[in-house]
Amino acid sequence: MHITILSSSTRLNRNSHRVALALEKMINEKGEHTAEVLDLAAYDFPVMEEVLHRHPNPPAGLADFAEKVRRSDAHIFVSPEYNGSYTSALKNAVDYLKEGEFSQKAIGVVSVSTGMMGGIRAALAMQQLVLAIFGFPVPQMLPVGQVLQRFDEHGDLTDPGFEKNIGQFLRQFTWLAEAVAEKKQVLVPA
Ligand SMILES: Cc1cc2nc3c(=O)[nH]c(=O)nc-3n(C[C@H](O)[C@H](O)[C@H](O)COP(=O)(O)O)c2cc1C
Repeated sequence: MHITILSSSTRLNRNSHRVALALEKMINEKGEHTAEVLDLAAYDFPVMEEVLHRHPNPPAGLADFAEKVRRSDAHIFVSPEYNGSYTSALKNAVDYLKEGEFSQKAIGVVSVSTGMMGGIRAALAMQQLVLAIFGFPVPQMLPVGQVLQRFDEHGDLTDPGFEKNIGQFLRQFTWLAEAVAEKKQVLVPA
């Protein structure tokens, strides 16, 4: 399976990108699946004026982004909590695409905050977003509180105690993602 990780903070000196990098490393190091971060700060999409398939002059990088999303088997959305929800950059990027890019794929959600609560409201809001785009929400979420104490800027874990939380999340995510991907192969043989 190929997994895309949407890193959705575009803030200068952002912290949640550390978590996206960490998940990418962990999945790739395990070697069973491949993972790739799609960095919304790097894509730098303007506020959506029209959806991609009807856009007369799509923003640079949008077709590439859509293709990467389409080609991947499962997704992880990583977002900080901003005012009780996920980032507008995530909503903006998702709104550009057809629901078909995400539908019938497992989508895991990871929320991030510098505080203790781990941005749980952002995680719950992302679960609603996943339903709206006909994805399969992974019931196990990964709220990451105190991100600065847990990950360095390269995406390396600095709090060994948190490894258990990540392991649990990745196990549940992978289980559902594999089940969905296998079912699709049966329905649509390669
Ligand atoms: C606009 C804004 C709103 C925020 N709202 C919340 C919030 O509702 N709950 C929370 O726990 N932290 C909140 N924070 C703190 C963020 O969790 C913290 O700044 C985190 O590092 C943001 O992720 P980022 O660095 O990847 O942008 C907010 C931060 C910003 C910039």
